[in-house]
Amino acid sequence: MKTITDNIIYIGVDDNELDLFEGQYIIPEGMAYNSYVILDSKVAVMDTVDASKTDEWLSNLEKALGGRKPDYLVMHHIEPDHSGSAAAFAARYPEATIITSAMGLKYLAQFAPGVAFKTAAVKEGDSIDLGKESLKFFSAAMVHWPEVMVSLYGPVLFSADAFGKFGSLGKCGFFIDEDDDWACEARRYYFNICGKYGPQVQALLKKAAATAPSVIAPLHGPILRGDLKPYLDLYNTWSSYGVETEGVFVAYASIHGGTAEAALKLADILKAKGCPKVATSDLCRDDMAEAVEDAFRYGRMVLCASSYDAGLFTPAYNFLHTLQMKAWQKRKVALVENGTWGPTAGKVMRDMFSQMKEVTEVGNMVTIRSRMTPADIPALEALADAILE
Ligand code: FEO
Repeated sequence: MKTITDNIIYIGVDDNELDLFEGQYIIPEGMAYNSYVILDSKVAVMDTVDASKTDEWLSNLEKALGGRKPDYLVMHHIEPDHSGSAAAFAARYPEATIITSAMGLKYLAQFAPGVAFKTAAVKEGDSIDLGKESLKFFSAAMVHWPEVMVSLYGPVLFSADAFGKFGSLGKCGFFIDEDDDWACEARRYYFNICGKYGPQVQALLKKAAATAPSVIAPLHGPILRGDLKPYLDLYNTWSSYGVETEGVFVAYASIHGGTAEAALKLADILKAKGCPKVATSDLCRDDMAEAVEDAFRYGRMVLCASSYDAGLFTPAYNFLHTLQMKAWQKRKVALVENGTWGPTAGKVMRDMFSQMKEVTEVGNMVTIRSRMTPADIPALEALADAILE
């Protein structure tokens, strides 16, 4: 069994069978549903796991308990990847009290209708004395659901979804120092799952700073320990919609290849002009969640898209719609449209960007007519200058 501190034992499970996390995100390295047991004078179980892993989790729990009985099940977040085994827990340990927020109790009843739970609600500032230490609760509403709470036990912050990442612990490492590139999948996770809730994450970071934890135990991904500043700094950049990496993200949606050709030419021009980093994404084929991540990562984006049905080609429309939903903001954009007759993509892109906060179009939009020709190159060069300025 893995231990976090001398009396906190990890009882979570890896899921390497799930096809899509939350029904939409690919997880090539699997997923971890983290859960912990605090063995103090009182015993507190910290969250459950997805229903597909109930048996494995209960077995882990039983081993960790070493014959003791849990007094509490703390549920920081009721989304089913964490509450899916609550009913089975209550059936096995009916004397344990389930601790969550008042809203959490409501959601638990909705997700497990008809199950009789023994419960108690906690709110911001409440604490439960476990013996050597108390468990102190803080609201983390909208990180990522309204009922979410985090808790502090000694130096350990149980951070719910915050500081989580895609990937099973077996593949990514149990502690952060075994995970060679935490930010990559933590960033994709953050922006796609919590991206909309920057102000709420900022509020949580203030609480985290005040409690000064030395260990962060999230509900997904490795346990963070050691120097936490790099992770807190990244979360601060992400949740304030700051620029993490200097460079340009070129995203394109191309029906017959003409738009892609222009986009990749523009990427080459940007590199030739010394742009420190040029990232590209084929919105028709590449992972949409990765494209969303890159749109947030860089401060500048060029969106290149075909016209379609007197509007915008569907993959580009879906991408922009997702950015709108995730509150994408504070960025510079430049546009390339393509149309064989009456190009319409540019107008739709402009309309959609205009509804986003502090998104500024730079340069003159380039219009390609079916295929890029040498005559289009000066306009692409000028657009590259404008986005780099
Ligand atoms: Fe890991 Fe919002 O559930």
